[in-house]
Amino acid sequence: MAVELLINESAIQDRLVAMGQQIEADYRDRPLTIVAVLTGSLIALADLVRQIRIPLRIALVQASSYRGATTTATTLVVNEAFAPDVANRHVLLLDDILDTGQTLSALVQHLMDRGAATVRTAVLLRKIGRQVVPIEPDYCGFVIPDVFVVGYGLDYNDEYRHLPYVGVLRQ
Ligand code: XMP
Repeated sequence: MAVELLINESAIQDRLVAMGQQIEADYRDRPLTIVAVLTGSLIALADLVRQIRIPLRIALVQASSYRGATTTATTLVVNEAFAPDVANRHVLLLDDILDTGQTLSALVQHLMDRGAATVRTAVLLRKIGRQVVPIEPDYCGFVIPDVFVVGYGLDYNDEYRHLPYVGVLRQ
């Protein structure tokens, strides 16, 4: 399958520098834990945290959604084997892409239930036109059209994550 360039490497890096500066200013006096959602946000996490020059902790969560056998409702199962205690911490939840908004809003609720002092959200990409849950990311890299994207952490069948740019997958 062909990958058509959507956002090039230097545009991503420039945007992450700006986001990092904004996060640094906003969290200067607050203990920050960045909780990254596996696996798609790993590359953005690595590049973003290196732009933030205040103390911070890094945690990882995995969120999988399952559709019930008898209902159409989806349940989000959260695996937090690599997430330290977030109680009383100021949490910045980082995901690769905001699509319907279901993952991010469920994880915000989950982290609040775990006793986080505050929870904000950051996404590299925000897809327009598919959101069903009203959630506004506090930090957003790029707004993109409703296309399936890969690269820079995002996958198709677990491939393409290593591409240093974001591209549209063409069949
Ligand atoms: P929701 O709908 O909960 O979904 O906001 C967020 C998750 O959906 C996946 N997703 C994509 N993955 N290319 C991808 O590689 C895409 O275009 C795309 N759109 C949604 C992704 O796992 C994200 O965390």
